[in-house]
Amino acid sequence: MKILSTLIVAAAIVVLGVIGFAYSGFYDVSASASHNGIVHWLLSITSDASIERHAGAVEVPDLDDEARVLAGVNDFNSMCIGCHGAPGIDPEAMGQGLNPPAPDLAESAADMTPAELFWVTKHGIRMTGMPAWGVTHDDSSIWPVVALLTKLPGLDESGYQGLLASAEGHGHHTDDSSGSEHSHEESNESSADATHEHDESDDHSETAQSETMPEVGEEHDHSTHEHNR
Ligand code: HEC
Repeated sequence: MKILSTLIVAAAIVVLGVIGFAYSGFYDVSASASHNGIVHWLLSITSDASIERHAGAVEVPDLDDEARVLAGVNDFNSMCIGCHGAPGIDPEAMGQGLNPPAPDLAESAADMTPAELFWVTKHGIRMTGMPAWGVTHDDSSIWPVVALLTKLPGLDESGYQGLLASAEGHGHHTDDSSGSEHSHEESNESSADATHEHDESDDHSETAQSETMPEVGEEHDHSTHEHNR
C-alpha cells in the first residue's frame, strides 16, 4: 500500500513537472534550433510508425504507366521542389528554412513504399512543413506525382530535365511548370472559379484536375505577394 501511494505521488510530481515545463517557456520552439535528442527520437518513431500503419490500407495503381509519370513530373515540379528540390535543383529559400528539413525525395523514395509515399503526399505530416495535398487534390491527381517519385532515385539532373521536356502538356500543372513565376490572366481568372466550385468538381475527376490546377497556382501567387511586401 505504501509503495502504491509513493508511486502515485511520484507520478503526480512528474505530470506537474511536465505541465510546469510546458508553461515555463524554457523549451525553444524556434525553427532555427533543433529538437532535443529525446523529443526528436520520439517524434521520428511516432511519425514512421504512423505512416507505415496508415499506408497499409492504400491500393497502388500501375506506376510505370508512361502518361502517369509524365503528368507527375510537371506536377512535382510545380508543387514539391520549392521545399524538396529535385535532381540538380536546390530547394527555394522557404524550403531551406524548414525544421524538420524537407528531405531529398530521391532518398525517401528509395526507402519508402509507393503506398507510404502516397499516404504522406495526400495527408501531409502534422506540425511539420509537409502539407496535406489531398485537401486540394483528389487521388487521381496525386498518383502521378507518386509515380514520378518512384523514378527519382534513377534520375540525375539531365534525366530529370529530359523528362520535364518530354512532359509538356501532361499533368494538371502543365502550364505552370516554371514554378511560382507564372501569373498569366487565364489562370488567375479560372482560379476564382475553382475556389467557388471546388466541391462540385470533386465528382468528376477530369474537371477536378483542371480546376484544382489554378487553385494551387493561386497559392503560389499569394506567397509571392507576401514575399514582396
Ligand atoms: C512547404 C514545404 C513542402 C512542400 C511544398 C512539400 N513538402 Fe513534402 N515534406 C516537407 C517537410 C518539411 C517534410 C519532412 C517532414 C518530417 O520530417 O516529418 C516533408 C516530407 C515529405 C515526405 C516524407 C519523406 C521521408 O523521407 O520521410 C514525402 C514523401 C513528401 N514530403 C512528399 C512531398 C510531395 C510529393 C510534395 C509535392 C506534391 C511535397 N512533399 C511538397 C515539406 C514540404
